[in-house]
Amino acid sequence: MYYGAAYYPEHWPRERWETDAKMMQEAGINTVRIGEFAWSLIEPEPGKIDFTMLDDALNLLDSYGVKTLMCTLSRTPPPWFYEKYPDSPNVNENGRQRGPGHRYAICHNHPGFIKESKRIDKLVIEHYAGNRAIAGWHIDNEIGSGNSCYCNTCRKTFQKHLKEKYKTIDNLHQKWGTHFWAFSFSSFSEIPLPNNGNGANPALFLEYKRFLYKVNVDFAMHRYSLMKKNDPDKWVTTNFQQSRPDHTDIFDLSKALDINGTNFYPNGAHEFGLDWTRGTRGKVLILEQRSGAPHWQEETEPGMMRLWAWRSIAPGACGINFFRWRPCRWGQEEYWHGILPHSGRKTRRYDECVRMGQELKKLSPVIEKTSPASDTAIIMGYESRWAMDAVIAGRNAGHLSVLSEAYKIHEVLMQKNLSVDAFDPHEDLSKYKLVIAPRMYLVDENIKNNLTSFVENGGILCLTAKSGTVDECNTIVNAPLPGLLSEIAGISFDHYGALSKDIKLKGNSGVLKSQDLCASHWADEIICTTAEVIAEYEEGWHTGIPAITCNSFGKGKVVYLGTVLKEDSLDVFISWLMELAAVKSILETPEGVHAYRRTCEEYALTFVINYSDEVKKINLDSEYENAATCEKVKHISVEPKDLVILKR
Ligand code: GAL
Repeated sequence: MYYGAAYYPEHWPRERWETDAKMMQEAGINTVRIGEFAWSLIEPEPGKIDFTMLDDALNLLDSYGVKTLMCTLSRTPPPWFYEKYPDSPNVNENGRQRGPGHRYAICHNHPGFIKESKRIDKLVIEHYAGNRAIAGWHIDNEIGSGNSCYCNTCRKTFQKHLKEKYKTIDNLHQKWGTHFWAFSFSSFSEIPLPNNGNGANPALFLEYKRFLYKVNVDFAMHRYSLMKKNDPDKWVTTNFQQSRPDHTDIFDLSKALDINGTNFYPNGAHEFGLDWTRGTRGKVLILEQRSGAPHWQEETEPGMMRLWAWRSIAPGACGINFFRWRPCRWGQEEYWHGILPHSGRKTRRYDECVRMGQELKKLSPVIEKTSPASDTAIIMGYESRWAMDAVIAGRNAGHLSVLSEAYKIHEVLMQKNLSVDAFDPHEDLSKYKLVIAPRMYLVDENIKNNLTSFVENGGILCLTAKSGTVDECNTIVNAPLPGLLSEIAGISFDHYGALSKDIKLKGNSGVLKSQDLCASHWADEIICTTAEVIAEYEEGWHTGIPAITCNSFGKGKVVYLGTVLKEDSLDVFISWLMELAAVKSILETPEGVHAYRRTCEEYALTFVINYSDEVKKINLDSEYENAATCEKVKHISVEPKDLVILKR
């Protein structure tokens, strides 16, 4: 497995490099990520290229058994670039520009940036292609972050893109509904960017999101092709920014990668992000795993750096790179702590790094062959997120957000020790028993067909409120809700709205019958066509209206949840769904302990992680082998902030 850290040789005197390399070797580090912000050192003046510094660092590290994951350089153009192209800085929604010494500061549609960044990235790729010290390639850093730009170049490029897509302005008028608030244009050149704060036309808003993300995908694809042409035997990755940022559809971006990669900074990052960035690929490389923290965040508790890294491996990470080897003594991130402290001495996080390195050396051969085997999936489209973001506002905005619904559901599934894959709704669903689609707001024909064939073939699909509301132009469907999904859901309704207070529900099925259930924030006024009522409202004028329904369709079923369930009720509802779909927890564990599973043809590994401060004793469901000690066990005792890996 890849094990290492982000390393910046340019931050330290050469005399230090060998000490670092020796310490890395001692810790079992085999790969470091290098170079992403080094453009101004490689090309201090236009055209004056000097790779000596990187060459020397790479060679020295390689002599200690540490390979390099080489990044392309275009993330931070040097100051001369800004002098040469004064109109190249990215313009944010409020018209503010950044400049040298920042990152995420350049307009990616600027012809000067396109030309110079392609040139420098090509030089790096050609220079290091075939080099034995290189383990693989890393495109840029956090592709798409800060790339959303509202400058004149972007506006003109966007207009060109719209013209190619819609062909005639009348076609665009019809699709966008521009007769509302005088938004019809006499030509494409009048179309503005959606940067006038809240309230841009929803179709314009969605289309600009699509346009911006395609720029990021094209950017990555160009680098990927160059890497594959020059260095075909090496793999290519990049670090997706977890699940919260929505600037780029990572499933489209992953077409420019051999291995999905991501950053994982607990506790800020939601665990959903690990399943999301792994997607359907079975593995994800952690390119920035939290070690220390910046000084405005709680210090990393001793032991947690290692435990969080294991937490990433348990659901599918194929390698860990900590951020970062050693914190800088200068610059904007001088307080972003790393494995080593500022002084460069060996302290407690280095000891954890060594411990983890030893553990990985022993266990990697067993772990490497395995990947998570999930029969449950969460599907979520970026297009639904963008489309919904254009219109949600007010008191209930947070509860209607696609992402927060996905987070809530994922959290409950994790509490129940289920292995979950999370990905885009266009992907193949055939291997899953249970698919949950939180707020599938935008549904096109492809999504409809994919969901329909999943259910026809016996899958259990769960939809939640606001599904099927808009088409691919972010225009509300000309039909009862949930639009294209009405038939499979066996329901059809026209009225819905926010709730001003919580409402009790009466459950009619299985475990839902015996529990108190409570709805909040939202109610669809569902009318069943062929579906049966699973729970209904029990208070006020909503009494008797279905809140949860279930429809048999083909060999499968579609469950529709037309409200937002309170926490405990969501827990009960998910238990009910699990029973319906016959999906089972990996293992029963006490509070504070979670189980994750990775499998291969010959065996399954169960990672039992104790996040609590107490020793936890667990009676296992059968006999396992402790993967670290090879002992046969039927009961285990997991130390606080520690884990046991079971093999069977
Ligand atoms: C990441 C970024 C790194 C560093 C890190 C600090 O998002 O890729 O370069 O800034 O955050 O947490």
